[in-house]
Amino acid sequence: MKIVAANWKMNLTRSEGLALTDAIVKGMSSVKDVKVILAVPYPFLAEVGERIKDVRNLHLAAQNCHHEESGAFTGEVSAKMLRSFGAEYVILGHSERRVQFVEKCRTIRVKMEVAIANGLSPIFCFGESEEQRMKGNHWKAVKGQLSLGPNMLTEDEVRKVIVAYEPVWAIGSGLTATADQAEEMHKHVRSVLYSRFRELANEIPILYGGSVKPSNAAELFSQPDINGGLIGGASLVAEDFLAIVKA
Ligand code: 13P
Repeated sequence: MKIVAANWKMNLTRSEGLALTDAIVKGMSSVKDVKVILAVPYPFLAEVGERIKDVRNLHLAAQNCHHEESGAFTGEVSAKMLRSFGAEYVILGHSERRVQFVEKCRTIRVKMEVAIANGLSPIFCFGESEEQRMKGNHWKAVKGQLSLGPNMLTEDEVRKVIVAYEPVWAIGSGLTATADQAEEMHKHVRSVLYSRFRELANEIPILYGGSVKPSNAAELFSQPDINGGLIGGASLVAEDFLAIVKA
């Protein structure tokens, strides 16, 4: 089953978020065989969770969590708290966190372990920068992030993981990787996962993220190694997001 996840990032007020949720819930009645995940800001979790809890194939996610279980970390949120508010997934290692909040591979790996130990499925994000691609270092960059991320987990742990290839140059830029560019990278991702997990690698969903729109979603999602998408900007408009889900 394909997976389409919305990443609202730091957008929307309470009323806007709830209106968007209601519109998505309504649209889900005509969606078949797609798992849809809404990654919402922390304050939205309880109310959005309440609205989607009985909707088939609609799931709740957070956009980050702390790497410790609990303690004196003012302003932070733990994996256990997220689970207690109904979250099933958590985005980890998004490039905006790697770059703006200087999150290191090691911290992201520990976050994945803590998330899984507390009943959450990580959506592990990775992808090369524009400079890395220009210099031809994108294969190596992606291999490095995967090697220090999901490939450090146990087989039992990795069964819970979704990975999301998000080339940094394509995020919020309007520049999308072509379907061929995305597919060849997804094949590479699969082979890096295969080197660690063998056949189990074929069961790990690999999403594509970066300027996915209703106009390019169908072509991207028709590629054999693209198992769905992680959607930023277009997930803030119900009509666009639902068009992507239906693609
Ligand atoms: P855009 O779809 O806005 O490019 O964002 C992608 C993204 O970062 C999803 O996590």
